[in-house]
Amino acid sequence: MKRPVASGIAGLDYLLHGGFPAGASVLVEGAPGTGKTTLGMQFLYHGATVDKEAGIYLTFEELPEQIYEDMLAFGWDLRQLEKENLLRVICISPEILLEQMMQPEGLFEQIVREMNCRRVVIDSISLMHDGLDAESRKNVYRIRNILRKLSLTSLLLREQTDPERTEITYEHYVADGVIRLALQKHMEKYRKRTLEITKMRGTRILEGEHVYRITDKGIHLIPALSMVEDRGLRKDVSVVPTGIARLDELLCGGIASGTAFILDTNSKANYKYIMGSIFAQRLLAGERTISMVPSISTLFDSKRIMALFGVDLLEAVEQGKAYFLDHFERPAPKGFEQAVIQLNHVSDEEYHQYLDEKLGPIVNESRDKGENWFAYYDLNTMFSERGKSFVKRFFAEEVNRARAVGLTLIILCNFAEIDDETSAFLERTCNGVIRTWVDGAYQYLQVTKSPHGRMSEPLLIENIAEKPFIRLI
Ligand SMILES: Nc1ncnc2c1ncn2[C@@H]1O[C@H](COP(=O)(O)OP(=O)(O)O)[C@@H](O)[C@H]1O
Ligand SMILES: [Mg+2]
Repeated sequence: MKRPVASGIAGLDYLLHGGFPAGASVLVEGAPGTGKTTLGMQFLYHGATVDKEAGIYLTFEELPEQIYEDMLAFGWDLRQLEKENLLRVICISPEILLEQMMQPEGLFEQIVREMNCRRVVIDSISLMHDGLDAESRKNVYRIRNILRKLSLTSLLLREQTDPERTEITYEHYVADGVIRLALQKHMEKYRKRTLEITKMRGTRILEGEHVYRITDKGIHLIPALSMVEDRGLRKDVSVVPTGIARLDELLCGGIASGTAFILDTNSKANYKYIMGSIFAQRLLAGERTISMVPSISTLFDSKRIMALFGVDLLEAVEQGKAYFLDHFERPAPKGFEQAVIQLNHVSDEEYHQYLDEKLGPIVNESRDKGENWFAYYDLNTMFSERGKSFVKRFFAEEVNRARAVGLTLIILCNFAEIDDETSAFLERTCNGVIRTWVDGAYQYLQVTKSPHGRMSEPLLIENIAEKPFIRLI
């Protein structure tokens, strides 16, 4: 595959996995003032100065002098590049351009060859056709074919007359890619500029509206969902896979030992498999586990789900690898009795001391042997059984205590049922957040916080027949 052609905007190249596909004709549309000319020139300026690729800017309305003048504001000395034969700004009428382009060995082709031109910007394609009749449509198609034949990577700028109406026009079908620039009202206070890639041949698109600014160095785009890297995390910590392939990729291998993750879910269906897969993997990795039995399911359910993942929970119990905390007095499967710590009679005041007495000796003894512990904490049950103030008062402390003894923690909760302030507090306290939600008939998953600092895009959850019973797309 040919190397992608860098756009000259770092954030955009990130979204494009390196740049535009070589030889592609990309439609760039937006209302006047959104930055099409700036983007087009930045593409050519970067090509000429960094990649030493010559470019041509074809304009139908503005005079080269005016463009030189405007671009100096970004520190781009276009005249100098013209002298070095790395750039041409050509003001021409659409009719003559078309005529010259259509001629084999015509003026356009001559200039392209003479300069060894690799990049072209046409400002604007809207003026190449003055209607929707078949003949003017064909012009767009012809131009794309000529640009492609000459292996030119090109940006076709398109003036959007009515930004409210994002109609699909003929150009969208003909172009290899479509980028939409917009200026939107945001929170009634200020306007934000956004860029969205709606099409790009042969490239996996990072979906969404990405915010950019026009600075004194040109367009600066910050991809949505990117965060500052958490450099505090040690590189040598071990990770245990979640067993869900795509999720492990996003988490750089799995959940790092000694970290705390929140699994935010409001759907009853799929979290069982996410949790089940994570839990089974920890047991298979030889870790010892403590889990809170949720109010809405029982140890019989846990045993059945572990069996689906190839883990015999009774065997784990017998080996002292699995302990359970239960807030309810209820039957447990045969053989589980000694592994269940009953909390229903324990008051809030006694809670921590009681747990320390019950679990402390077991955890300490095994830590001396270098064994790792994993805990599954059900915040929904804690909220319903102990109340919000108890959670707020002790949660951070519990997470810190768990981390201090090297415990890996997964906390199940439902942000939708708790207030913003509390959920922000929970997010801050943890190293990672995996969110799931239902939209219509679909369920989504997104890593919104991770120890590596990257957020993921939202992924669709698909149910499958084999382990781990879900797949992220
Ligand atoms: N040096 C600069 N700093 C910040 N913004 C600028 C600068 N120069 C131009 N702009 C902004 O860029 C916009 C013009 O962009 P332009 O590329 O000409 O848009 P379009 O071609 O889509 O009409 C204007 O709205 C202007 O406010
Ligand atoms: Mg313009």
